[in-house]
Amino acid sequence: MTATTTRTRRSRADRPAPDWELVYKRNYIERMKRDRPPLDVRDELPELIARGYEDIPEEDIVRLYWWALAHDKPKMGTFMVRVKVAGGLVTADQVRALARIARTYGRDEAELTTRQGIQLHWVELAQLPAVMADIEAAGLTTNGGEGDTVRNITGCPVTGLTHDEAFDVTPVIREVAEHFYGNAEFSNLPRKHKYTISACTAQCNAPEISDVALIAVEQGGREGFTLRIGGGMTNTPRISRDIGVFIPRADVIEVLEAVTNAWQRDLRYRISRAKARIKFMMDDYGPEGMRAKIEETLGRPLEDGAAPEPKVDADHLGVHEQGQPGLVYVGVPVPSGRVTGTKLEVLADLAESYGGDVRLTRQQNFILGNVPASRVDEVKAVLRDIGFDLDRGRAFGRSLACTSHRFCNYSVAETKGKLEEMLDELTAHYGAEEIGDLAVHVDGCPHACAQHWVGEIGLQGTTTRVEGSDERVEAYDLTVGGGLGTRSAIGRRLLRRVPTTEINGVMDRLVGSWLDERNRRGDIDFTLGDFCNARTDEHLIAIANNAEVTAARPDTSVAVRVPGPLLSLVGGEDRVEVQAATVGEAVEAVADRFPEFRATVLPGGTVDRAFLVAIGDEDVRGLEGMATPVQPGTDILIIAALSGG
Ligand code: HEM
Ligand code: SF4
Repeated sequence: MTATTTRTRRSRADRPAPDWELVYKRNYIERMKRDRPPLDVRDELPELIARGYEDIPEEDIVRLYWWALAHDKPKMGTFMVRVKVAGGLVTADQVRALARIARTYGRDEAELTTRQGIQLHWVELAQLPAVMADIEAAGLTTNGGEGDTVRNITGCPVTGLTHDEAFDVTPVIREVAEHFYGNAEFSNLPRKHKYTISACTAQCNAPEISDVALIAVEQGGREGFTLRIGGGMTNTPRISRDIGVFIPRADVIEVLEAVTNAWQRDLRYRISRAKARIKFMMDDYGPEGMRAKIEETLGRPLEDGAAPEPKVDADHLGVHEQGQPGLVYVGVPVPSGRVTGTKLEVLADLAESYGGDVRLTRQQNFILGNVPASRVDEVKAVLRDIGFDLDRGRAFGRSLACTSHRFCNYSVAETKGKLEEMLDELTAHYGAEEIGDLAVHVDGCPHACAQHWVGEIGLQGTTTRVEGSDERVEAYDLTVGGGLGTRSAIGRRLLRRVPTTEINGVMDRLVGSWLDERNRRGDIDFTLGDFCNARTDEHLIAIANNAEVTAARPDTSVAVRVPGPLLSLVGGEDRVEVQAATVGEAVEAVADRFPEFRATVLPGGTVDRAFLVAIGDEDVRGLEGMATPVQPGTDILIIAALSGG
């Protein structure tokens, strides 16, 4: 994790809340949302189309996020369209509709996402109204797929199919989606807001890293939910915490409203977008304080309860018996989540042929539900024909890669192709079965869309200079020991800036040493995470570098991290190292080296409103501004205030 200043900070809960006047003064996006509600941009689309892509004001590009429309990279006039799929549950007809939309408007490409949605690319501006209408005609929506909204509601993808759950939560997921998607009262939140709902004992839906997680239990003979709040990724990863309540099933909407309102009405979380997510409210109030705030908003106390811990780990890959006799579900690994409209069409026909459905998973895979056991071989053969080989290896299904280079403006290193290349090499060396449990998460930048913090190995894209030359190449920072479920933990950063040409070798040595030890122990449950957690950084670095154990090299400089869209201003370096004692000195030092950076980020000598400067999770305006002292090893982040995500 990034280093931070050593001074202790007072919790924001102890300080008086700001008023709207201060919020509007400090936060440009809040002003924009007040003056030009982003969801209204849908009605303005004909006018924007008439103007043409080049002439759409940047502010309207941002407002389009609320309809989950973000421009593809490079900014050449095509859009990404993210479809919300509540709980990842889709019918065969919906899959067919998505297939047709991808083929008609999206050059036959689509991506399964880490939050059980599906993304199309290449959509022309003029076609956006038609695409959105087609998506809605299929009973799906893009409303709130990005922006300060309740995002796609995720859940256990095998709810209703598995033996192993308190009860089927499908109706609850549908009801919550129905209530919150597109609801104007929940579309101007301080920041994005992610709900997840599940009932299975594995908690495979990542309640640990969701803003708000409902985990089903039976209490006193009644069906209901416990509540965890405050998980999340990006630069400041947090594991959610149990707030110790039981919510009867019938009260779910009312309590979710109270949770989200307690947060959205507390203006402390609208001052800085770098510190707006509900995880920061949890940091400030703690579980008990949070519960009190929710009860105050609700106007009544909640019953006591305790969120269960996950009991097993489940990735749902392969063939599994359902609760319904004679039926199975089939979990299919989709390397890096890449699919096509043509393949989706085949899946739709297949699922329809036996009256089944399709479930999207947070590992960017899909599950075929309600498959007659007698037809498994046939189903496997059809899947193999379209490139989804169940025997290719579970690691391909357990690993994640973010969107990165092809379509994302922020990316500084390739992810999806790199992940597949890496797993192919590891499979060739050690065998698919041996590395089956591996979960590698690869992100193209610190935004952590593919959650590198919770991969057993996490790779975050960066750049590095080739030794002895000025040439820069793509590289990865490497974290180890992250996990979800029974091994939930935020990974620890082990190596910085491993060049792309060397990363496969590093992976091979770490994986090889882990497998050696696992085999020595004869313990199949001994994971790579366990292996890493039992060793010091120095030891692991030595394994990774194929070297003797030496003391880790201390960081002596301060780094200013520059986001992808600004890389051209700083010669392609995403992490500029400087010697500085304060934030201001560091940013100035970068500006001295790169005049174009100065012109964009510091026009007129102060930081432009389009950017925030932060240390770890703290907007420096909440510290001592540009005078905030920094220590060696600190990362100072330049964040695009208008960025989506
Ligand atoms: C400031 C910019 C961005 C930030 C901070 C950001 C951050 C995130 C985070 C934290 C997640 C979800 C991890 C989780 O909690 O499950 C996520 C999901 C995702 N992001 Fe981003 N992201 C940004 C921009 C983008 C862009 C520009 C793209 C692609 C063009 C992108 C693609 C995705 C995808 C595909 C997912 C999973 C989708 C889903 O929610 O269903 N992100 N992003
Ligand atoms: S992690 Fe970074 S590079 Fe990857 S999709 Fe998210 S914003 Fe883009």
